[in-house]
This record gives sequence, structure tokens and C-alpha cells, in this order.
Amino acid sequence: MILVTGANGQLGRRIVQHLIAREPSLLDGGLGVSVRDAARANELASRGVIVRQADFDQPDSLAAAFAGIRRLVLVSTDGPAAQRSARHRRAIDAALAAGVSHILYTSFLGADCPTELAVAHRDTEAALEHSGVAHTVLRNTLYADDLRYLAEPALTHGVLRLPAGAGRVSLVSRDELAQAIAAATLAPRLDKRVYELTGQAAFPYADIAARIARVSGRPLAYEAVSADAYAGSLVARGVPAWHADAQAGLFASVAAGRLAPVSHDFAALVGHPPKSLDCLIHEYFAPRSPA
Ligand SMILES: NC(=O)c1ccc[n+]([C@@H]2O[C@H](COP(=O)([O-])OP(=O)(O)OC[C@H]3O[C@@H](n4cnc5c(N)ncnc54)[C@H](OP(=O)(O)O)[C@@H]3O)[C@@H](O)[C@H]2O)c1
Repeated sequence: MILVTGANGQLGRRIVQHLIAREPSLLDGGLGVSVRDAARANELASRGVIVRQADFDQPDSLAAAFAGIRRLVLVSTDGPAAQRSARHRRAIDAALAAGVSHILYTSFLGADCPTELAVAHRDTEAALEHSGVAHTVLRNTLYADDLRYLAEPALTHGVLRLPAGAGRVSLVSRDELAQAIAAATLAPRLDKRVYELTGQAAFPYADIAARIARVSGRPLAYEAVSADAYAGSLVARGVPAWHADAQAGLFASVAAGRLAPVSHDFAALVGHPPKSLDCLIHEYFAPRSPA
């Protein structure tokens, strides 16, 4: 049986949906999820997905959740780095104890970057290596979906301010990343230990802003700001300080070119490349015609 953790989250739920779409027979007892709140997974249970309750902060909940699992899709959790690293280690230990034969972990393209958001991914990749369990690391690039969260408020005053310098990013939608992770989960054979799931090309935010302006019909210019100024602006909007610093550190990694790599691993797993940046921007920012 395959089990996907974090299936009430946005990525985890989409991985489950893509697994079912690729292999509907999984609904005959071959697909499980672990979630913290089982009631929120009722819709999955009604379709035939086996729902187990597990919280990585409660190690006692993990043995039963992982019993009888062959392939485990370990979806990275959110929160401060130390907390996430400890949770993922507990999950790996429990998976080993339960006899899981293969773990697929949703890591980050910038796992080697000197930023808070990379630490848990680096730690988890190292824990997997150290555990000796067969595993596959799926290094996700930045979610293209977050352009909406970044650009929507910026469109009101026409300036997208980020501490990303002239660094390039290769973006993929969360849903397509889930599609690639599902494909990897079902692959009879995986050729690589680490897959880098990136867009087809990398672009600087100045270019991305210009494309959003063109598609939305609203002015939008990019302005590079310092990491400190950016973190301060997030804190002023109510973002917790650790998260503001982590976000600023993430864009500093973009500025340093650490999120620019482009790989063909997505197409190797899925069978075709992910959507182009223009296609994604059109989906997110094209004006909707009135119904
Ligand atoms: N590449 C990127 O651009 C990017 C951006 C943001 C985040 N991420 C990473 O990708 C992950 C998945 O993204 P997402 O969009 O699905 O985020 P999300 O919707 O916020 O989901 C977070 C997931 O973490 C799980 N979780 C949190 N604490 C847990 C615990 N103690 N035990 C077990 N599970 C726990 C949640 O479990 P439940 O299902 O039980 O609620 C939820 O499924 C994030 O957690 C983060 O590590 C990547």
C-alpha cells in the first residue's frame, strides 16, 4: 500500500488526486493517507482512500499510521526549521520501524541554500541517507501559485518589491509538482536518487513583473530591495518575524542564482514538460470576462 502524509494540505491532497487519476485501482485498498484531523479527509474516505490519523509531533501516533505501508510519500511540513527537522526525523524513524520499503520525500530545489527554509530539507535528506532506507528526493522549485500572493497586492500600487536582485527563478504550479510526485510514486523503476522538479526556463522577477503587467493589463514594475527592508515590510503586515526572515532569506538565495537551475526531470517523470511561465501567468492574472 502507498501512503501520502499531509493529505489535508494543498500539495498532499493534490498528490492523492493525481495518484487516483493515474491508477484508479488504488482505491481498492491500495492507497492511504495520514492526516492530523481525520474529519477533514472524509471526502477521501468516501472514495475508498484509507484514512489514518497521525501527527509527527506525537510519535505514538506514527506506528499504527505507517503499518503495512510499502511506499511512503513524506510531504514536508511547515513551521520553524528545528521543529520541521525533528518531525521529519520522527516520521523516518517510524517508517523504518514499520518496515516501509521506499520513502519519497518532497524537498526543495534550494535545499543547499543558506536560508532558514532550506534547513529542514537538508536535514531530512541527510536523515534519509543515514537511515539506509531506499528513498527518492523530489526537489520542488518555488510554487508558481505564490505569484498571486506576491503580485496581487503589488498590482494595487504598481511595484513588486522583492530582495531577489536580478536572480532568476524557474517556477512550476503546485498542482503540476504533485503530478510529477505521483508519477514518481507509481514509477516501476526510478533512475535517480534526487529529482529536480523545475520549470522549463528561469526568469528574473523584472521579467516576470513585465509579463504579469502585459497579461493583467495593469502596470507592474519590479524593484529590488534589501532583505532587511523586505523582512521589515512583512513584519509590519503581521507576518511572524521568523517567517519574514525566512522569506527574505529565500529571495536572497534567488538573488544569488540558487533557484535558477533548470532540469528535465519533470518531463522524464510525467512524459511532457510543465506549463510555460506565460501559460501560468495567463491562468493567474488574465482578466476574467463577466459571466
Ligand atoms: N516549493 C515551494 O514554493 C514551497 C512553498 C511553501 C511550502 N513548501 C513546502 O511544501 C510543503 C507542502 O506545501 P503545501 O502547499 O501543501 O503546504 P500546506 O498546505 O501548508 O501543508 C502543510 C502540511 O504540513 C502538514 N503538517 C504540519 N504539521 C504537521 C505535523 N505535526 N505532523 C504531520 N503533518 C504536519 C499538514 O498536515 P495536515 O494535512 O494534517 O494538515 C499539511 O498537510 C510545506 O509544508 C513546505 O514544507 C514549499
